[in-house]
Amino acid sequence: MRCVEPATRLRGRVRVPGDKSASHRAVLLAALAEGSSHVTNLSPGEDVGRTMGIVTALGARVESSPAGALVVGPSRLAASPTALECGNSGTTMRLVAGMAASIPGTHRLVGDASLSQRPMDRVAIPLREMGARVEGQGERCTAPLVVEAPGALAAIDYAVPVPSAQVKSAILLAGLGAEGPTTVTEAVRTRATTETMLAAAGVRVETEARGAGRRVRVWPGRPRPHDWSVPGDPSQAAFFVVLAAVHPDAHIEIPGLADEPERLGFLAVLERMGADLVREHHDGVLDVVARSSTLLATTVDAAEIPSVDEVPALVVAAAAARGVSAFRDVGELRIKESDRFRGSLELAEALGCRAWSEGDDLFIEGRDGARFADFTLDAALDHRRVMAAAVAAVCGRGGCIAGDDTVATSFPSFFDELGGLT
Ligand code: S3P
Repeated sequence: MRCVEPATRLRGRVRVPGDKSASHRAVLLAALAEGSSHVTNLSPGEDVGRTMGIVTALGARVESSPAGALVVGPSRLAASPTALECGNSGTTMRLVAGMAASIPGTHRLVGDASLSQRPMDRVAIPLREMGARVEGQGERCTAPLVVEAPGALAAIDYAVPVPSAQVKSAILLAGLGAEGPTTVTEAVRTRATTETMLAAAGVRVETEARGAGRRVRVWPGRPRPHDWSVPGDPSQAAFFVVLAAVHPDAHIEIPGLADEPERLGFLAVLERMGADLVREHHDGVLDVVARSSTLLATTVDAAEIPSVDEVPALVVAAAAARGVSAFRDVGELRIKESDRFRGSLELAEALGCRAWSEGDDLFIEGRDGARFADFTLDAALDHRRVMAAAVAAVCGRGGCIAGDDTVATSFPSFFDELGGLT
């Protein structure tokens, strides 16, 4: 349990870790490539550590240092006799399932108690359509998961039923070992990290916008070794942007973020609420400066923030705003590292707000600038719930958070960065 004190003034510059999504993909693509790839600014979180452990078990050599990692892919990856440990990381499990579908042999993927409850049928269904054997537990095909590669995978044309970059990526990675071009269509554009990085590593990929969605086609092939420079993680920056906007005396700079439209919907939401933000785009990255603001309630549609990773941070903004904010169609929150749908209601109520739900919609009546109540909260071993609660505590009257160590999943230095601003 950690108790976080309120702060009277926040000033400074925050260095968020390397983007978690790009870090997982850099490690996987480097392991698939024959030869040496360097990754700089790799995410130091435990999740990416799991992906590194798994590629090592499959035969790659990984040397990590504080500056990043050197990954040496062998001429051929091979199934590991021991289980592939994904820990808390859904991205690891889903992407590795796709990659393993074309590595000969039988792969057993396991995870912690949280990951073992998360649905894997969303990747099992398309991978089976490609000819892989994928078996899990129960109706939703939860871990432990067994993936067995057939001789050759069939190329498929798949429409992803729920917008999910993890599902899209699992299919694209499997597609590298298919017999022809594999096509994935998504109704809402999710992060394009996999397709962009595959193309940078020399794989033939074509993408085409289709209304609000996108069609991605990948041809079979092997990525080339590549030196990856991972930009800052916008989803981690979201906590500090909200911190600055909600706190009454704050000026925070967050430089070097991945400048990708599918990741930055939260900025548009905050701007709509009246947040005082300055964005500067340069050299392919985004710098954000955020200051204390008077916030008004808004309606957020899930399609604006695909993957809903930034909702826990936005809940704190909604709790401070004037009026009732609505988060529409955010049922995906229920199947993240914890039930973030329930967690969002719990946090808003703990801060002294009225909060309720109707179906998959969440509503929060903000405190119109009145200080948050102090609170004690269990973050349910969910890194993003810890960070959201900590931000609220600093802005309000403080708060105690059980399960705070879980920030190590994605942002081990989170509390140091927070402390550095006071
Ligand atoms: C991720 C995709 C998202 C997101 C997760 C990272 C990725 O999950 O929530 O933190 O790296 O592809 P979904 O694909 O389940 O939306």
